[in-house]
Amino acid sequence: MKANRFLIEQYDVNKTYYQQKNFDCGNRVINKFVHSSLKKQVANGFSQAYVLLNSENNGRFSAFYTLSSFKLIASDMLSLSSGSFPRDIPCARLIMLGVENELQGQGIGKKLMADVFHRVHKAAKEIGIYGLYLDADLAAIDFYRTLGFVRLNEESESSTAKMFLSMREIHAAIE
Ligand SMILES: CC(C)(COP(=O)(O)OP(=O)(O)OC[C@H]1O[C@@H](n2cnc3c(N)ncnc32)[C@H](O)[C@@H]1OP(=O)(O)O)[C@@H](O)C(=O)NCCC(=O)NCCS
Repeated sequence: MKANRFLIEQYDVNKTYYQQKNFDCGNRVINKFVHSSLKKQVANGFSQAYVLLNSENNGRFSAFYTLSSFKLIASDMLSLSSGSFPRDIPCARLIMLGVENELQGQGIGKKLMADVFHRVHKAAKEIGIYGLYLDADLAAIDFYRTLGFVRLNEESESSTAKMFLSMREIHAAIE
């Protein structure tokens, strides 16, 4: 991967992104979100989004993620620790992440997650954030495990997996 081929920038609702409407990461829900809801979500302040643009293809909208605030409750943490927690545990949440089909398997997902860690690391210096939470598609569980995430609902039959990485680990990875 050429170092400057891909640029990550904060999603700007006033900008038109080349091929955003044709974004395809192979996940129907995520594709539909990018085509129809991403702009509104950001404009309304429900999420911030970050996009990866391909400078070798007219700045094509090639990958993205969205972040928001979230709270876990103490019982969510039972499988992780017997320590005591307040009832509400403030977290950052990675809501959506997608890399377009043609670019998957080239380290872009990992690069975006490094960007997520830096932003959350920075935010946690300003406001209380205990860790990073996400609902993983079952097919993506191993991707997040390679990054250190643990599953909170191991026994669940849900179609998504609740996954978590503590701020302590994120700080340690960065500092
Ligand atoms: C999941 C996704 C974001 C990964 O992005 P990517 O650019 O393909 O991943 P990378 O190339 O950076 O891979 C990083 C590592 O994770 C592994 N990995 C990637 N996707 C994986 C998967 N689905 N299952 C297991 N491991 C996976 C890679 O082998 C690689 O391991 P390595 O560092 O040991 O070589 C991408 O495949 C995608 O957009 N999928 C469809 C949408 C989706 O499922 N999003 C997540 C919803 S929660």
